Amino acid sequence: MSSRLEFRGLSRAFGQAEVLHEVSLTVEPSRCVALLGASGSGKSTLLRIAAGLDDPSSGQVLVDGSDLDGVPSEERGLALVFQKPLLFPHLNVVDNVAFSARMTGQSRKAARRHAMAYLELVHLSDLARRSAGCLSGGQEQRVALARALARNPRILLLDEPFSSLDSRLRDDMYSLVEDIRAELAPTIVLVTHDRREASILADSIAVLDEGRILQHGPVAQLHYQPATLAVNRILGGLNALSGRVTGGIHQSVFGRVPVQPGMVDGPAFLVMRQEAIRIVVTGEGTAVGSVTGLKSLGAHTLVRTEVTGDHGPSGTLTIDVAGEPDVTMGQVVGLKPVNDSGWAVTR
Ligand SMILES: Nc1ncnc2c1ncn2[C@@H]1O[C@H](COP(=O)(O)OP(=O)(O)O)[C@@H](O)[C@H]1O
Ligand SMILES: [Mg+2]
Repeated sequence: MSSRLEFRGLSRAFGQAEVLHEVSLTVEPSRCVALLGASGSGKSTLLRIAAGLDDPSSGQVLVDGSDLDGVPSEERGLALVFQKPLLFPHLNVVDNVAFSARMTGQSRKAARRHAMAYLELVHLSDLARRSAGCLSGGQEQRVALARALARNPRILLLDEPFSSLDSRLRDDMYSLVEDIRAELAPTIVLVTHDRREASILADSIAVLDEGRILQHGPVAQLHYQPATLAVNRILGGLNALSGRVTGGIHQSVFGRVPVQPGMVDGPAFLVMRQEAIRIVVTGEGTAVGSVTGLKSLGAHTLVRTEVTGDHGPSGTLTIDVAGEPDVTMGQVVGLKPVNDSGWAVTR
């Protein structure tokens, strides 16, 4: 049932304001792409255009290579799940899920039988007869997912469907999405402003910033090989040390770090994830820093250090340490990258 979805040079303006700017993005069949961006970056507008609820100013949406221009929403074979589930409160759960099958003329019995299979998939068959107006937020969203899947969509579009759920329920929904992928393998576009959610659920992440795709790639690539400082920041990266690349070596207060091939000589920032630096005894580090901040995140601690080297001005590096670190404010520590080579960006 899965299809390839492609946005080609897609723009959308509302009056003078260009909300999407030449967005090009391909989602391969059965893959899950997370569209990650801040509120107002244009995520919902892109999904609405895919679903046929809005039209682009220019550019195309293609499914399996055919242009959807002029194809009515209900004939696109795409299902959209919103942050608010929008169930019919006067119908029971199974009839909400059976609704579109009923609309296409199936008998009540057949539509309900079909719907029950999807309620089972979302672990809600026990509540089939309950009124949709009497469900918890998590249950409502499960029904909304079942209702979307019951339409056998070629592509599932999820617009921040879990953002109003508490974190435990959200984790339950993540495993449900895994079940759905294992069972039905739909093509999924997941819109989210939550980088953790994007990283857990998606095969690849496309970062949308002010209507432009800054980078699209596998989850690890976005974390460890961001194209720009903005991507690094949006993916939660805390460290970018200014310096200079010469002959493939980045030089900064952190010392000399070989970076990716293809970097031309000139000013550049060394990007290092806070999880990819170790605190060691001073002699064993490639740099030395003094601890200027300790912030507990429960199971993790962020240790902020001020690094002073022989190579240029000082810089701040933050390290993510599991548990309670064995350091105190003001202590001088050694810092060592986990990987031998680094990643540099110019802007
Ligand atoms: N119908 C509309 N008319 C005018 N502006 C709109 C309309 N829909 C969305 N926008 C604007 O487009 C921008 C992107 O909105 P949206 O796609 O909803 O972002 P997101 O889902 O990423 O939060 C926002 O600045 C919003 O105000
Ligand atoms: Mg939105």
